[in-house]
Amino acid sequence: MQIIKVKNYEALSQEAAKIVGKLLISKPDAILGLATGSTPVGMYQNLVKMNENHELSFKAVKTYNLDEYCDLPRSHAQSYYTFMHENLFNHVDILEKNVHLPHAEGADLAKQCAEYNKALNNVKIDLQVLGIGGNGHIGFNEPGTPFSNETFIVELTEKTREDNKRFFASLEEVPHRAMTMGIKNILAAKKILLLASGKNKAPAIKELVFGNVSEKFPASALKDHGNVIVIIDEDAASLL
Ligand code: F6R
Repeated sequence: MQIIKVKNYEALSQEAAKIVGKLLISKPDAILGLATGSTPVGMYQNLVKMNENHELSFKAVKTYNLDEYCDLPRSHAQSYYTFMHENLFNHVDILEKNVHLPHAEGADLAKQCAEYNKALNNVKIDLQVLGIGGNGHIGFNEPGTPFSNETFIVELTEKTREDNKRFFASLEEVPHRAMTMGIKNILAAKKILLLASGKNKAPAIKELVFGNVSEKFPASALKDHGNVIVIIDEDAASLL
């Protein structure tokens, strides 16, 4: 794992966008694995600027998102579908047909998981962007998830629902389930870029750096992948 420590969130966002940008310039038809949440927002803003300045294009890029809440329509303000369109897709020259997110609303979620998983297995993600949960989750792979899991429906922990309630009017509105890439899908990416910012991520980053590989701490699975870059700001690095 290569660790890049930067001063603050702004520097993290620039550094992350530089890495994604370099890939898109060298491989215009790259396949990206993307994350939602607060952490990558600044990176997406930088990529939008780079696209506006014609430094790079998304025209031939394909994207696959990590996860999506169940039981929310795609049109819901807090769906990850909406998040990705508002933060990236609506502002760059990507083609909608090349955008893929789990479809986690509907009667046959097992079938929809299998379909998303099949789509993932038919491609090779060049770069998978990840955030990290306070409990070490990546995607929505919560502590205890087998590393062998592929796309599945997860019951979100109360910790994760609490962490995410800032996006909703109340805790009751936070969905209880999500569809997520499994750890096996994540590890299949050629390269992984994990971003962490802020003091609330410092314990998780400490565990990631110094802890053992264990299903109790999902992000530790990344230690078995040969090509991982972790970008952290000073606050997230404060317990190292
Ligand atoms: C988002 C995702 C999650 C987040 C994590 C950190 O698609 O899969 O694992 O990356 O919960 O979220 P933030 O960045 O909001 O702290």
